[in-house]
Amino acid sequence: MAKIIFNEDEEVIIPNGELIKEYCENVGIPFACEEGICGTCVIEVEEGGENLTDFTQEEIDFLGEQDISEEGCERLACQCKIKSGTVRVRF
Ligand code: FES
Repeated sequence: MAKIIFNEDEEVIIPNGELIKEYCENVGIPFACEEGICGTCVIEVEEGGENLTDFTQEEIDFLGEQDISEEGCERLACQCKIKSGTVRVRF
């Protein structure tokens, strides 16, 4: 199992390999297109970015090239899956 910690106070346990979208929605992150086009679901990854799957082409197109392991890296929550471990997210 993997874990996402939202805004430092809300922990959610997620099976390895799952899309994080549903879990993000449950804590109040807004979604619109769900296809990586609109940017509504942008999240900031504070720690553990390497535990998310690689950027999709949609994320690269919208967010530009970023270092997946760098603090403060942005992701589109409708595009990422969690691989394992813990990810700290701010929204
Ligand atoms: S909901 Fe539109 S980019 Fe994620």
